[in-house]
Amino acid sequence: MPGDRAMYIDVAEGDQDWREIYRLCIGFVNPRPIALVSTTSQQGLTNLAPFSFYNMVSAHPPIVMFCPGLTRDATKKDTLVNVKATGEFVIATVTEAIAEPMVRCAANLPHGRSEFEFSGLTPVTATRVRPPLVRESPVNMECTLRQVVSFGEQPGAGSAVFGDIVALHIADWILDEDGQVDARKLRTVGRLGGSGYCTVTEPYAMHIPKPG
Ligand SMILES: Cc1cc2nc3c(=O)[nH]c(=O)nc-3n(C[C@H](O)[C@H](O)[C@H](O)COP(=O)(O)O)c2cc1C
Repeated sequence: MPGDRAMYIDVAEGDQDWREIYRLCIGFVNPRPIALVSTTSQQGLTNLAPFSFYNMVSAHPPIVMFCPGLTRDATKKDTLVNVKATGEFVIATVTEAIAEPMVRCAANLPHGRSEFEFSGLTPVTATRVRPPLVRESPVNMECTLRQVVSFGEQPGAGSAVFGDIVALHIADWILDEDGQVDARKLRTVGRLGGSGYCTVTEPYAMHIPKPG
């Protein structure tokens, strides 16, 4: 049960540093799934970067969303630049097996150096879009851009990138006998606060009751 004492922050008052609010919120808005987003620049260079502000937001049509924030000097990340320029991206699912290469993809590489090469992950030609799939991920989604909603021009401002799933690649070995994804086989990694991550080791089921 919650105790009587609580930290209270009047966010609307606006006297708190945005980074402090962010640090606190990612400590409890979790575990977050991680999208490893592959894009291609207008010049044809590939880019790969992880985003944990990520989810599926519509079932019919199937739409996913991830949110690249502006950097501390208010510049756009390469992923956002590429998605806006080309209208395409691929999301690879992050599993325990590729957690370490995924983190390497967040490194600030000089422009033009590919995170595929730096992380050791392997690009594979996609079916409907130009950005490559990630061979080492058991699930890749090919997406076309539907909409970008930007929340400002200031450092830390997010942009929500919405994309339609146009093709899905799902490895047979993560499926159960009913053709459903088996969380125990997939073993996704979740993002916590700070530098924290978690694994899916004890999934369990609950059923919504039918009021009778
Ligand atoms: C697990 C993880 C999750 C991340 N999630 C986000 C996120 O949701 N939004 C964001 O702007 N940056 C996020 N980052 C940081 C970006 O991956 C990092 O800034 C990256 O260099 C951006 O690459 P790009 O400039 O090639 O697009 C995350 C990093 C890690 C390791």
